[in-house]
Amino acid sequence: MTAPLSIVILAAGAGTRMRSRLPKVLHPLAGRPMLRHVIDTARGLEPAGIHVVFGHGGEQVRNEIPDDDLDWVHQAEQLGTGHAVAQAMPGIPDDHDVLVLCGDVPLVRPESLAALREAAYDGAALLAVRLTDASGYGRILRDAAGDVAGIVEEKDATAEQRAITEINSGIMCLPAGRLRGWLTALSDDNAQGEYYLTDVIAMARRDGVSIHTAEAADVVEVQGVNDRRQLAVVERAWQRREADRLMAAGVSLMDPARFDVRGTLDCGEDVTIDVNCVFAGEVRIGAGVTIGPNCLIRDSVIGDGTHIEANSVVDGAAVEGDSSVGPFARLRTGTRLARGAKVGNFVETKNADVGEGSKVNHLSYVGDAEVGPGVNVGAGTITCNYDGANKHFTVIEADAFIGSNTALVAPVRVGRGATIGAGSVIRDDAPADTLTLSGTRQQSVSGWQRPTKRRD
Ligand code: UD1
Ligand code: CA
Repeated sequence: MTAPLSIVILAAGAGTRMRSRLPKVLHPLAGRPMLRHVIDTARGLEPAGIHVVFGHGGEQVRNEIPDDDLDWVHQAEQLGTGHAVAQAMPGIPDDHDVLVLCGDVPLVRPESLAALREAAYDGAALLAVRLTDASGYGRILRDAAGDVAGIVEEKDATAEQRAITEINSGIMCLPAGRLRGWLTALSDDNAQGEYYLTDVIAMARRDGVSIHTAEAADVVEVQGVNDRRQLAVVERAWQRREADRLMAAGVSLMDPARFDVRGTLDCGEDVTIDVNCVFAGEVRIGAGVTIGPNCLIRDSVIGDGTHIEANSVVDGAAVEGDSSVGPFARLRTGTRLARGAKVGNFVETKNADVGEGSKVNHLSYVGDAEVGPGVNVGAGTITCNYDGANKHFTVIEADAFIGSNTALVAPVRVGRGATIGAGSVIRDDAPADTLTLSGTRQQSVSGWQRPTKRRD
């Protein structure tokens, strides 16, 4: 039987090289704080406890991550990774395995951590990787037999040691009881004047504890984020993973390198997504949907067979199947398009229910409105929903025809099958099956002359 698992996430560092007011671990990766990714990965291992060591920007970090199943451990002074882990040890029983994760190494996969844990079965284990350029990382020292003998930090390494390409990811798994003893024996007599967690490896070796390594399948799993350039590297890698996942599920991406998910995206089969689309929050897309270039889709559900044309924003909307949106449409919160509806270019909708097969094709604003099925809303129609103080509702019943450039002054109702003449300002309810017009009658003035330019 394997020992129970306690996970310690190191997240107290200042992140000076980010040059930011935001604590490093809160910088967004795919739209969520970097630390959140690490916490989610940790949870996936179903540990007995997750201990997050925080310090720099502490209040902010805790406010952003309000989860109540975490043990928050305050490290008042950042005296090194060994000191950080030591702060969490009082909450961890001796018979546990301790898995140390870093808040700034967000792409590590659960599979690699499971392998690391297995490798630690009779001692301790490090997640290692070979890099062509190992600069900045701690190097793994091995003896003549090839066994791990210790870790040397780059700043303390000799030129010969710096030539080693096998590096420490910072992620390791150790038996809690032994670790507790090693941590109290750490010294800060090194190039950075810090208590290095990495020094416990040589101690373990001295105590006859075997040290194994597990290798991460993909080098990006151990990519640390110390500056914004590395954050961008990690962001692209995350997006590429997401793109691969979606393509495997039957989604065509016109260019997987120009595609961003900042949240969760769920797609049916045969979805086609053109370049430069951003999906934020929770998005569900049905089978056979096509999405044109440069769209932003946030917290929305799109039904089977719908087409979203170029440059559209769909935000907080529910669009049923076989509908058509855009190009250049903006569906805002509370929009619901029933099956087969069409919302065309330069149309904005908000808190609007558009009935089956209804069309709002050009240059309109439909807000706080219910539009029945089979309605045609002419170009330039505006629901005047705001009187300067309050919002009011417009109802357009089934099969109505609204002439172009109509202002519907809410609260107002247009009856079933009604026709509204172009250019009308509708202040009172318009009866069903009737033509309603407003405004002055057209007149032609004979003898009228255009003004001419005065000269003096
Ligand atoms: C560390 C490792 C190095 C490894 C590298 C991988 C040590 C001594 N070195 O170096 O071998 O190759 O990670 O990325 O462990 N932190 C705290 N409290 C502290 C100091 C750090 O919580 O007092 C946290 C940081 O916020 C960060 C993590 O620990 O999340 C790693 O610290 P960092 O200073 O970035 O270590 P590196 O120099 O990168
Ligand atoms: Ca680091």
